[in-house]
Amino acid sequence: MNTPTRHHCIRTMKKLLETIEKALHAEGYPSRPEGLYEPVDYVLSSGGKRVRPMLMLLSYKLYRDDVDAILPAAVGLETYHNHTLLHDDLMDRADMRHGRPTVHRRWDDNTAILSGDAMLVMAFRRVMRAGCANRERLLSLFARTAEEVCQGQQYDVNFERRTDVSEAEYLEMIRLKTSVLLACAAAMGAIGAGAPEAEVRSLYRFAECLGLAFQIEDDYLDVYGDAAVFGKRIGGDILCGKKTFLLVGALARADEATRRELLACLADGEMAAEEKIARVTSVYDRLGMAACCRAQIETYHAEARALLDALPVAEARKAPLRAFAESLSGRKS
Ligand code: IPE
Ligand code: IPE
Ligand code: MG
Ligand code: MG
Ligand code: MG
Repeated sequence: MNTPTRHHCIRTMKKLLETIEKALHAEGYPSRPEGLYEPVDYVLSSGGKRVRPMLMLLSYKLYRDDVDAILPAAVGLETYHNHTLLHDDLMDRADMRHGRPTVHRRWDDNTAILSGDAMLVMAFRRVMRAGCANRERLLSLFARTAEEVCQGQQYDVNFERRTDVSEAEYLEMIRLKTSVLLACAAAMGAIGAGAPEAEVRSLYRFAECLGLAFQIEDDYLDVYGDAAVFGKRIGGDILCGKKTFLLVGALARADEATRRELLACLADGEMAAEEKIARVTSVYDRLGMAACCRAQIETYHAEARALLDALPVAEARKAPLRAFAESLSGRKS
């Protein structure tokens, strides 16, 4: 079998995306109580990229062709991801996602809490429906991951109040809040397909690297993205004092005067939001933080590429996953 062309990879990805989208909405929700399920539908229909189910299915397809057995797990993981977004927006007081008001803005805080809870339960029920022989293992990895995401989110909140977060602490925080879910997706695909243990571990680290790069890219887009494409408010992280790759890096690189200027600006409760965003962004510009982000993203992508290169699977089978991984770097939304 020849190495598939780029065109073939794009077709494979497009087909999988359609399969995911169809399965995600196949079931429908109970009609009552309305206030519980309407937001679930709102969130799941709002145009996410479906990165995690794509990773799971592409990883599965390294070993097996027919994805029917693993599909419920892929849909479950995407449901779980959307649950985290719903609660994350409430915690971050974010008003906009996918270019639309977030659930707590469109409805209210209690709706965001309860509809988010319903999605979490729904996610587990969906994963439980996977038709793979080793479903227990899928569930136990999923449960461990969901708990790790909570740990990461708690660190993210804790770090808002600190000014001495190290790069290592930041990296561990994003590994937990973001990367482990991508890693879990890829590993679940491999486990579901019956891949050898060493390859499951390689694919876990492969997607963990993609996840680290993915969150640094998210931090970057929060400052330098185009709101119309990114779908979220630009500068949201600056207003919350989030310890992003840019802020942690800027605090480490700045001279004493710049460091004081940056911290004073972030702590200023009187300053207008737009001015605060502009001032912090100009410090990031001066310190070359955009290039630092790009370099770190490339480092993680290189590690991911090397892991996929070394995986003892036929090159033709790897091509779509490789193309998908590459498509994540330099994304705009
Ligand atoms: C957003 O994830 C949260 C992060 C981990 C950065 P995505 O960017 O994958 O969100 P959607 O599902 O495509 O909207
Ligand atoms: C992403 O953190 C992590 C989770 C959603 C669990 P962010 O807070 O950066 O995600 P966005 O930017 O709101 O999507
Ligand atoms: Mg957050
Ligand atoms: Mg957020
Ligand atoms: Mg973000």
